[in-house]
Amino acid sequence: MILAIETSCDDTCAAVVTRDGEIRSNVVSSQGVHARFGGVVPEWASRHHLELANDVVDDALATAGATLADVETVAVTQGPGLVGALLIGVATAKGIAGARRLPLAAVDHLQGHVAANFLAPDPFGPPFVCLLASGGHTLLARVQDHEGYTTLGQTLDDAAGEAFDKGARLLGLGYPGGPALSKLALSGDREAFAFPTGARVAGLDFSFAGLKTALLYKVRELGEEETARRAADLAASYEHAIVEALIARVTRALETEREPRLAIGGGVAANRLLRERAAALGVPVHIPPPELCTDNAAMIASAARWVQPAAFPHYLALDAYATRRAA
Ligand code: KG4
Ligand code: ZN
Repeated sequence: MILAIETSCDDTCAAVVTRDGEIRSNVVSSQGVHARFGGVVPEWASRHHLELANDVVDDALATAGATLADVETVAVTQGPGLVGALLIGVATAKGIAGARRLPLAAVDHLQGHVAANFLAPDPFGPPFVCLLASGGHTLLARVQDHEGYTTLGQTLDDAAGEAFDKGARLLGLGYPGGPALSKLALSGDREAFAFPTGARVAGLDFSFAGLKTALLYKVRELGEEETARRAADLAASYEHAIVEALIARVTRALETEREPRLAIGGGVAANRLLRERAAALGVPVHIPPPELCTDNAAMIASAARWVQPAAFPHYLALDAYATRRAA
């Protein structure tokens, strides 16, 4: 069994997964403390990871009906993410693995999102094009094997989830704003306002900064009262623009694939409109269940199955990295 730990942002996560990709436990402790700031406060995230890490690991083992004696490999997210937050996970993993002389697998967070697709009971194997859209990242990848991926396109500025969150904030909704904005959009008219979809960005890259600015100007133009009255229409039009921007790049990427298949991951994969639009593309589409799309440790354990782990004591010098590795 693999015990995995994930602490790249504000969720403290631990999971127990078998070599076959069967999830025995997948514990996520979300730090509610950031909502009042309208975003994640990195130093607070680190401190909370430190407080929660051991309990979350214990919970993951207990839920799996396992003890440390059943664990063959420890896996941990090495990056990218908030470096202070990552370090808590890395130090915890080193401590557990080192104490029992177990091998340690260092996993890339984005490869983890890709590998969420490989988990039982409904594994989706390569080749496929993968859209990863979260609060921190937005990229299109070609996945040809279980070990890695090639980046086809990425955001030039904000991530899609960030665009949702910033839009939600402009409309006076809470944090994280994606789910709230999407809910409000249900009762709105997506054709009411024309927001930019980053169409001027050629190829497979994304841009969401212009969209956010367009909403800001629209809110200023309408004024407080009218913005409140048209909030659902604004949300629906804004959501529509983000989803169309994502779907346009996905469509373009699939056009050149010999065997077009699509997987979607990251928190934004929970979005209802995106799921609807993806399902209508006419190619096989795989979207893991929501709890495997948002940050979790089961996906890290899944990716670890194809990572060569380091033996004790070589991993004791392992460091976290904040930014995405070239892929
Ligand atoms: O993958 P994730 O849980 O954490 C990061 O690694 O960022 O993604 C969180 C992001 C947030 O920006 C949140 O607003 C967005 O995913 N999100 C959604 C929905 N659910 C979560 N965006 C749009 N519609 C949703 N239903
Ligand atoms: Zn993530």
